[in-house]
Amino acid sequence: MSDLATLEAEIVSAVEASADLAGLDAVRVTALGKSGSISALLKGLGAMGPDERREQGPLINGLRDRVQAALAERKTALEAAALDAQLAAERLDLTLPAPPRRRGSVHPTMQVMDEMTAIFAEMGFAVADGPDIEDDFHNFTALNFPPKHPARETHDTFFFSPNEAGERMLLRTHTSPVQIRTMVSQTPPIRIIAPGRTYRKDSDQTHTPMFHQVEGLVIDRNIHMGHLKWTLETFVGRFFETSDVVTRFRPHHFPFTEPSAELDVQCDRTGGELKVGQGSSWLEVLGCGMVHPNVIKNCGLDPDEWQGFAFGMGVDRLAMLKYGVPDLRDMFASDVRWLAHYGFSPFAAPSAAGGLS
Ligand code: PHE
Repeated sequence: MSDLATLEAEIVSAVEASADLAGLDAVRVTALGKSGSISALLKGLGAMGPDERREQGPLINGLRDRVQAALAERKTALEAAALDAQLAAERLDLTLPAPPRRRGSVHPTMQVMDEMTAIFAEMGFAVADGPDIEDDFHNFTALNFPPKHPARETHDTFFFSPNEAGERMLLRTHTSPVQIRTMVSQTPPIRIIAPGRTYRKDSDQTHTPMFHQVEGLVIDRNIHMGHLKWTLETFVGRFFETSDVVTRFRPHHFPFTEPSAELDVQCDRTGGELKVGQGSSWLEVLGCGMVHPNVIKNCGLDPDEWQGFAFGMGVDRLAMLKYGVPDLRDMFASDVRWLAHYGFSPFAAPSAAGGLS
């Protein structure tokens, strides 16, 4: 055998014997690397005379081509084998039984909605609802927002494209349109709460474009602010599960209530933990007021005969406060680890008799 044939046989058998990609590359370097055996032969061509070069050139180049082909073929084979090995190692047997652990949990928002519903149900409130997609009449006009009034702008409304008549539907910015739908469809006395989703163009640590509210509405004869105050103070005490809550009604403005107020609860925020019923801070909990006579009129009722009060509160915010969730946006991130940590057992539905949380 010629020297070239011996060299080729050696290299090719080393190629075939290499067990992995690293080993194959080492063989490539000894043959075709800078100081490899074939590279040395190719360099030697330059020093030959023309006749010798004409004879040796094709032989050496042919050797190089065959070695390159052998390397490529082995590389493909080794890569395929590596992939097969990885697939085999990462195989999951989906027929194995699942480990016995809690799979689902109740989201804090839903937990708090259930708690609120339990508290108000015990006070004699029924649950009402309305659509998420509303029209301007129910979301604004019937609620005594004057046309083009700046209060409409403060709601950062999501509007749909206008229809042929030029009317735009919208995503309701609060649950107050359910007040209108209830007064139009039921005869007083009315005592309802309306939990549901609401939408505003807003996103930061304490705002998300979708959030939840619980609306409340009472319509009856001879209703006055004392009823509102008792109802909400009783609610707050039960919700925060303490007998000594101190509340403060702060004057405010809503077009659909007169007078209007925001309800604050005294709390202590030192040490990053929220304690209700002590301390020197105030926590804004809800908006409320006596239903404006125009709203009662807009629903076809006589405001001289029927009066009432209404309130609306942010459920997610109250859930964060009660259960110590630092960032509102996490509430809607659908992270199962977060849910496992902050979620509630589905088997412990809140009730007045059985306890809330
Ligand atoms: N709809 C008001 C809001 O979203 C809250 C509210 C409801 C205030 C009912 C008064 C009466 O801010």
